[in-house]
Amino acid sequence: MFKKILAAVVTLALALPLGAQAAPIIIKFSHVVANDTPKGQAANYFKKLAEERTKGRVKVEVYPNSQLFKDKEEMEALQMGSVQMLAPSLAKFGPLGIKEFELFDLPFIFDDYAELHKVTQGPVGAKLLKKLETKGLIGLAYWDNGFKVMSANKPLRVPGDFRGLKMRIQSSKVLDSEMRSVGAMPQVLAFSEVYQALQTGVVDGTENPPSNLYTQKMHEVQKYVTLSNHGYLGYAVLVNKKFWMGLPADIRAALESSMKDATVFANSVAKKDNDQAMAAVKKSGRSQIITLTPQEKAAWKKAMDKAHKENIGRIGAATVQEVYKETGYKP
Ligand code: LMR
Repeated sequence: MFKKILAAVVTLALALPLGAQAAPIIIKFSHVVANDTPKGQAANYFKKLAEERTKGRVKVEVYPNSQLFKDKEEMEALQMGSVQMLAPSLAKFGPLGIKEFELFDLPFIFDDYAELHKVTQGPVGAKLLKKLETKGLIGLAYWDNGFKVMSANKPLRVPGDFRGLKMRIQSSKVLDSEMRSVGAMPQVLAFSEVYQALQTGVVDGTENPPSNLYTQKMHEVQKYVTLSNHGYLGYAVLVNKKFWMGLPADIRAALESSMKDATVFANSVAKKDNDQAMAAVKKSGRSQIITLTPQEKAAWKKAMDKAHKENIGRIGAATVQEVYKETGYKP
């Protein structure tokens, strides 16, 4: 009798779909920007694909807008395993001890997305992702955002206009050099604190791609926005290595294919999103838009070349030279 009951229980357990037996694997994906940005949309798209392709065996919880963690905290949380996935800006890897990613912050290094992709989709990009493993992380992909505009409460046309201004930057030494090269005083602040810092005058200005400027309403507290496209801001998608390697192989494969498609999606919406955000900033009439003349732009580039000189050693001369070769940057 007992044997029969046992056999019936075993048969029933085997007949149940796998998802009904085990609680889903949770992936907490924390980020600091709005849902309606290239990164926000791509994170939500990854969630959709991952949950579909694992047939509910994985649940992705996306926490946008620094809801769960701010910039610095989220890196620590990933290493400790309190979250499983992040997509931090490439300008935020220095404090982690991987300074090479700061090459993406070098002013005027990329003229457009095509030049950027030579690096993110080429050997240098792969080499940098590999370095993350020494920190207990795996870099799954690069996600694009866009080229930065510069904002302040005074018009910024020539390097001299920055003199004495307190400018918010991300935690990158290259960005620190960039701001100092034009006479500004850089100040590192978490992304979640930028709007208030601009509103209350803790800082005078900042730089970001239009998608971030617009969704954080920075244009409402900045009188002028210069279309400088002086630098790039984008992301690497990171997972905790122990967590990732501990996943069942079929689940990991489904997540990898979801990430591949989410990356194509991210990189296909980034430019359009930034163009639309800039159009919305213009339409709002809250800040005056400044377009640089070729001479003015050349003056920015000349001044900011100092940020290259000062940081080549920090990033690695061989890596920088490789990137110069790919993008054709000339001091
Ligand atoms: C910033 O801090 O300005 C950006 O890195 C925010 C982001 O994630 O795009």
